[in-house]
Amino acid sequence: MADLGKQVVDGLVGVRDWVDDRFPLMKGWNEHLAKYYAPKNFNFWYFFGSLALLVLVIQILTGIWLTMNYKPSAEDAFASVEYIMRDVDWGWFIRYMHSTGASAFFVVIYLHMFRALLYGSYKKPRELLWLTGMALYLVLMGEAFFGYLLPWGQMSYWGAQVIISLFGALPIIGPDLSEWIRGDFVVSDVTLNRFFSFHVIAFPLLICGIVGAHILSLHEVGSNNPDGVEIKKNKNAEGIPLDGIPFHPYYTVKDIVGAIVFLIIFFTVVFFAPEMGGYFLEHANFMPADPFKTPEHIAPVWYFTPYYAILRAVPDQLGGVIAMGAAVMAFIFLPWLDRSPVKSSRYRGMNYRIALTLFVISFLILGWLGMQPVTPLFTWMARICGLIYFLFFILMPIYTAHDNDKAVPDRVK
Ligand code: HEM
Repeated sequence: MADLGKQVVDGLVGVRDWVDDRFPLMKGWNEHLAKYYAPKNFNFWYFFGSLALLVLVIQILTGIWLTMNYKPSAEDAFASVEYIMRDVDWGWFIRYMHSTGASAFFVVIYLHMFRALLYGSYKKPRELLWLTGMALYLVLMGEAFFGYLLPWGQMSYWGAQVIISLFGALPIIGPDLSEWIRGDFVVSDVTLNRFFSFHVIAFPLLICGIVGAHILSLHEVGSNNPDGVEIKKNKNAEGIPLDGIPFHPYYTVKDIVGAIVFLIIFFTVVFFAPEMGGYFLEHANFMPADPFKTPEHIAPVWYFTPYYAILRAVPDQLGGVIAMGAAVMAFIFLPWLDRSPVKSSRYRGMNYRIALTLFVISFLILGWLGMQPVTPLFTWMARICGLIYFLFFILMPIYTAHDNDKAVPDRVK
């Protein structure tokens, strides 16, 4: 018996070596896992990168199964989703995983981005890592927007109508551009078909490709950490960072714990509150799209609402579109706006800490405002929060250059 076991192991090692002679199998394993030295002080905030990967896998798998029964035509789309929910074995489960997964993706990504702001992970030498992250954020927004049209409910239809007509506000090319995006004078079967093609193939391919670039650039420069100390500056005689530990097994085990906790919360939502009171699946979307009947109150899903609130806060339509675009794009410039030599907010002065706190509070309030019907009070609140939002970026070169930063330790704590 022992002999048989040994033969099996020898056989497997033989196959591995055969592959390894022809493909960088062990090289990749070592470079990215077993001999990738990550800082030893990762905390809670470092769970969200691997969780984003997990949600990506969930979305791709459930998406493949949904596509087996979904019909991308204005005539059949709504009914095919109902069919998935009622008649396909476990169809409700797959669909709720996918719809909950969309919101979970943005929860995870917003926390992942906040971590970068907390510890200055966008700063040199991680600018390109930040830019690939921003590309992912933009592509994810597109992916969610395209996916939202597919159930062909009232909110799908009118949400797409509102957002696409925004492009119409651009001077000269505007009207032609929005018609070009729709492929028709109104959102129609043609629009649904092209959104389907973007949602199931073009954008997922882009996401997977950019995630690859994101991880490769992370591993080229190495991870930042809650102390914002570069661990590559202190190496032992073998060139191993003194404050680093091999990613595998230490962080693979840590990330598995994070994944289990995440999955418990995720499936609690899938089983007990998949609509999340209308935040994950909006009530109006349980009615089929009707091009002749505008819903009373059109609001995007929660993850877009901070930007939607900024759009509505500007009286002029073109101005609103520009402000909304600028609000999303502003993050791109963080590595160059931030002039502090210190990365982590643990060692930064009060200027940055206060600015970040105000920014996060105004982002959350904007998110809430974007879900509410327009009233004069809410519009003014959105203007004030929008102003704080933009001042965070515009004044950054000044308040970060003149902050009372503390001394950063040489080694991680
Ligand atoms: C599909 C989406 C994404 C995936 C799968 C992903 C994956 C990852 C993973 C696995 C890590 C390493 C583990 C960690 O540090 O948590 C990481 C690090 C990082 N990501 Fe992402 N990411 C995504 C989106 C983003 C976005 C939208 C941004 C910012 C705009 C971003 C910025 C960063 C930064 C700055 C780091 C390095 C953090 C540090 O070392 O302190 N990522 N990402």
